[in-house]
Amino acid sequence: MKKDLISMVDIKEDLPDIINLAIEMKRRQQMGEREIQQVLKNRSLAMIFEKPSTRTRVSFEVAMTQLGGHALYLSPRDMQLGRGETIADTAKVLSRYVDAIVYRAYKHEMMLELAENATVPVINALDDMEHPCQIVADLMTIKEKKGELAGLKLAYVGDGNNVANSLMLGAAIVGMDFYIACPEGYEPDKDLTGMAKKIANESGSKVVITHDPVEAVKDADVVYTDVWVSMGDEEEKEKRMKVFKPYQVNEELVKHAKPNYIFMHCLPAHRGLEVTNEVIDSRNSVVFDEAENRLHAQKAILARIIKH
Ligand code: CP
Ligand code: NVA
Repeated sequence: MKKDLISMVDIKEDLPDIINLAIEMKRRQQMGEREIQQVLKNRSLAMIFEKPSTRTRVSFEVAMTQLGGHALYLSPRDMQLGRGETIADTAKVLSRYVDAIVYRAYKHEMMLELAENATVPVINALDDMEHPCQIVADLMTIKEKKGELAGLKLAYVGDGNNVANSLMLGAAIVGMDFYIACPEGYEPDKDLTGMAKKIANESGSKVVITHDPVEAVKDADVVYTDVWVSMGDEEEKEKRMKVFKPYQVNEELVKHAKPNYIFMHCLPAHRGLEVTNEVIDSRNSVVFDEAENRLHAQKAILARIIKH
């Protein structure tokens, strides 16, 4: 049976192995052992991006090259999808050519429909519900920097969006306490929160939703934020700018974290809004290692999901 990666829950059992494989692949690449990694020789990956992307697109494309395969970037504007061909028919056709499909979608329902109709694995490259590939790279980064995951405290400050949803699930799976400070009405998805709390219960960690950034950040090992206006939320921009103002990650706020805390952001960042230059450019910030790790994490994900 094919294995999709639509939600963090899809890799609940495999997550520690995928993180370790990503760390191992990074080590091998740094040692120059490139040919050993070519486990996807002659394999092809279709990548449909409905929204812009820098990191996800480039890291998947380079990951396929380094694994010995080939990636095709497909914009709906240039596909028959843009002229009304259904996502279901697109899924059936692409499955006859390629070994997996990466999809960045506006709507989670479209992601599910593609996965349901594709006979090859589908990987969620971000939709309005989750961003699982980002979180595999994030957990890999935390493990590299802190040596472990279980028992740490992660504070997410800002919007309960796709990144927050996946991070909450990922933290619960690996046994890390997850605190989110967000304005009222901007909490993470209710169903996913219920699921994360259940998983946290099994792993011995906590999921806490608060409206107080200081409570979330107090003694945190990791402070994480993301944009206040995600792709697709642009018409709410004015309102969001006001509501999220008290949730900026700045020097005053991070004083409450542990002295050796790390600052993370999936990027792209809006400097001066959700995070100040002082914090994102500080010695505690690991945002560019985090961005680099997207490549190593994608390689581990592809090697696990595409049959070889
Ligand atoms: N973090 C992330 O997914 O970035 P891109 O939108 O550039 O892919
Ligand atoms: N939450 C952001 C993440 C971008 C990588 C968005 O969906 O736009």
